[in-house]
Amino acid sequence: MSKPLNIAMIGYGFMGRAHSNAYANVSHYFDLPYKPVLKAVCARDKSKAEAFAAQWGYESVETDWKKLLERKDIDAVDICTPNNLHKEISIAAAKAGKAILCEKPLAMNVAEGEEMCDAVEKAGVANTVWYNYRRIPAVTFAKQLIDEGKLGRVFHYRANFLQDWTISADLPQGGAALWRLDAAAAGSGVTGDLLAHCIDTALWLNGSIKNVSAMTETFIKERKHTLTGKVEKVTIDDACTFMGRFENGSLALFESTRYARGHKALYTFEINGENASIKWDLHDLHRLQFFDYRDAGPLRGWRSIHVTDGDHPYMKHWWVPGLSIGYECGFVHQVADFITGMAAGKPVGPTFRDALETQKVCDAVLASAKSGAWTEV
Ligand SMILES: NC(=O)c1ccc[n+]([C@@H]2O[C@H](COP(=O)([O-])OP(=O)(O)OC[C@H]3O[C@@H](n4cnc5c(N)ncnc54)[C@H](O)[C@@H]3O)[C@@H](O)[C@H]2O)c1
Repeated sequence: MSKPLNIAMIGYGFMGRAHSNAYANVSHYFDLPYKPVLKAVCARDKSKAEAFAAQWGYESVETDWKKLLERKDIDAVDICTPNNLHKEISIAAAKAGKAILCEKPLAMNVAEGEEMCDAVEKAGVANTVWYNYRRIPAVTFAKQLIDEGKLGRVFHYRANFLQDWTISADLPQGGAALWRLDAAAAGSGVTGDLLAHCIDTALWLNGSIKNVSAMTETFIKERKHTLTGKVEKVTIDDACTFMGRFENGSLALFESTRYARGHKALYTFEINGENASIKWDLHDLHRLQFFDYRDAGPLRGWRSIHVTDGDHPYMKHWWVPGLSIGYECGFVHQVADFITGMAAGKPVGPTFRDALETQKVCDAVLASAKSGAWTEV
């Protein structure tokens, strides 16, 4: 019989929904020592929070996250707010002895991230950051193949995260809906929002990045600010491209933008090794493309592996072989792994400390784009 794990969620936007779905469903598919209980949701607007609580089955509502953290009936706090609140809430939650699941990017910058790592480690609370793509089965399978040495020496790691939703110059910046376009709330633009995902996956699959040379661009220089009503300078990066070197000697090429007309959320990566290559594409997330040079000559070619069989990562918990699962399931897997790790007293990555490594790369990328020089991570 599972013990209850009382969850408090702060913020009920896009990620609030993705995480609530994961807590609500994880115990249907995974046998776990704890069963998440949707205890409280917190947001500033009481009536909206109440509507969310009713729709998703939260038992109670708070409008002040500080009050929420005082509650004795909360075991774990999930931070789904814009980036500028991650640090303050995490540190307070750690001091209150709560387990913490924090959205990415960990922080606005490395200095904040270091304080957050110190706080969770000092408090000894279980912690994770929602770099959810690690737990898409095809991506986890890529990790298995790499760890088994299937690629041999790695030469290249290439990643893209392309969107097109900010091309209109009429789009305002800031406020509840468009905080991503305001560096005061987001920290950075596509670097922290999109590239951070690519970087987390890359560090996990291919090890540390040593140095980077980056460029960023802000295509629309001024936008009306939702909060002030005035036309103000845009402070985020609309696009970011960087190259770099991994510690293992392979070369990195990364691009993210919100100006790639036609692309909505095209996250792709490709890794080229001495013996084999791997490709993955979020738009076809249950497939892993694999090329093995050691196959017999005439049969050599890219295999499109449908990662849906019982011996593929996580898949035995779902349907029968051949049936695919969706974007939302990566979050379910992260909750399952987090709970398993927490019960065993073993940290499960990405921890705050792991996410700090991604933050270091993001900061180096932004510093390099500013100075125009190669920058050590
Ligand atoms: N893992 C992923 O793939 C992924 C995807 C999208 C967003 N994110 C991250 O998740 C976080 C939230 O993004 P989102 O897309 O859900 O944003 P969103 O704008 O949809 O939701 C943000 C929520 O935070 C709430 N909020 C803001 N200030 C608050 C405060 N002071 N107290 C309580 N609640 C407050 C808002 O009311 C809203 O409900 C960000 O850090 C973002 O980078 C991660």
